[in-house]
Amino acid sequence: MKLGFIGAGFIARFQSVAIEQVRGLEIAGLVRRRGSEALAAFCRSRGLGEAKIYESIDDLARAVDVIGIFVPNYCRIEVTEQIAAAVKAGAPLKGVILEKPLGRNMQEARRLVALAREAKLLTAYFENQVFMRPIRTQREQLEPVMRTMGPPTLTRSAEEHAGPHEPWFWDPTRQGGGVLMDMGCHSIAVGRYALTPPGKDLLFLQPQSVTADIGLLKWGQPQWREKLLKDRGVDYGKTPAEDFATGMITYRNPETGQIVKAQFTDSWMFEKQGLRLFMDGMGPGYAFEVNTLVSPLSVFIGDAAAEAIANQESALEKATASRGLLAVQYNEADLYGYTDENRDMLEAFSAGRDAMLSWEYGLEVQRLVMASYLAAERGRTIDLTDAKVLAELETYVPLIQQGRGGEQLY
Ligand SMILES: NC(=O)c1ccc[n+]([C@@H]2O[C@H](COP(=O)([O-])OP(=O)(O)OC[C@H]3O[C@@H](n4cnc5c(N)ncnc54)[C@H](O)[C@@H]3O)[C@@H](O)[C@H]2O)c1
Repeated sequence: MKLGFIGAGFIARFQSVAIEQVRGLEIAGLVRRRGSEALAAFCRSRGLGEAKIYESIDDLARAVDVIGIFVPNYCRIEVTEQIAAAVKAGAPLKGVILEKPLGRNMQEARRLVALAREAKLLTAYFENQVFMRPIRTQREQLEPVMRTMGPPTLTRSAEEHAGPHEPWFWDPTRQGGGVLMDMGCHSIAVGRYALTPPGKDLLFLQPQSVTADIGLLKWGQPQWREKLLKDRGVDYGKTPAEDFATGMITYRNPETGQIVKAQFTDSWMFEKQGLRLFMDGMGPGYAFEVNTLVSPLSVFIGDAAAEAIANQESALEKATASRGLLAVQYNEADLYGYTDENRDMLEAFSAGRDAMLSWEYGLEVQRLVMASYLAAERGRTIDLTDAKVLAELETYVPLIQQGRGGEQLY
């Protein structure tokens, strides 16, 4: 299958590393943008495909089977509109991949789904954490226990690091919010997945209510605000976003009526070695736990040797330390689920169906993220069984996304 990339930044590079581990996928082309020359050179050097650089989305769409949309959140719609126009004009494209989050709010998310469906494209919503091997393996391992003792009743999911790499992520009007939009979507999706009884549909559990709380705990402080302005050009004195979010989503099992809960925690103010994904869950008589800062490999770099480390991220995504005892994950693309989400997409699109997580699935995650912003903004529990609340979420744009986060966070 010939894959084309739009976007040649952080995630496009990570996906290339993942695709090196997937048979049958070829990175055939990229659209010319910042970073495309370097990424194309990397792809060619690893034998991942021709990685030809095209001047327009239309040209790319005519040369590949599937397009991966790896662009910032604020230009998703414009890019997808161009893909849909290319298909309308005759490009023989099969499917499209979109990275999380689907949109910045429900209206954007619905527009994206409509564009793909009108163009008759197969869809894959890339939520890698649902594909993480540790998460998949615990479900396989515990399945007989779950069937005997009953399904999981509580999950807790967290993604935390010290803050994103590009200025646009920090700007809530372009990104759509702060850490709840950026990483809450991961934790909410994986929490629901891990809670779902074995053999049931991904959307089997029915959302009942959401409580959430957000804060600006580090990057709103004067010295950190100044650093952000200097390094990223974003002024959290004027347009702040949350650097911490936590919440609880309550679900109901429609067959048994049982109430189960998924708690999430996400932060951009995490003061440990680098990115940490932490998930745990339990049911009657059993439990699991995943912590990506625990690796079979650790290295030690003393003060005298620290200057020799040029690239801090060589050990771990978003690494913040380059000395001392460091955990090293030597295959992050696989650990975080990128390889298996590509495998799933390849298999599904080849068979003419949507990937396991379609854009409609992404829409369901989007709704829960929006409900979490609303819960935090109003300071009350959001009832997801109330038709009026669901209607309100369809047009809701969080204060933070509007650039009015100061009213909520300070
Ligand atoms: N699943 C994950 O863990 C994960 C991790 C990081 C990013 N992401 C998602 O991937 C997306 C991209 O993030 P990133 O970190 O790679 O960002 P980035 O800023 O590193 O890269 C963005 C790329 O898009 C290009 N671009 C910008 N505007 C464009 C346009 N209008 N048309 C075509 N190309 C354009 C840029 O030149 C750049 O090459 C985001 O939506 C983000 O949420 C997901």
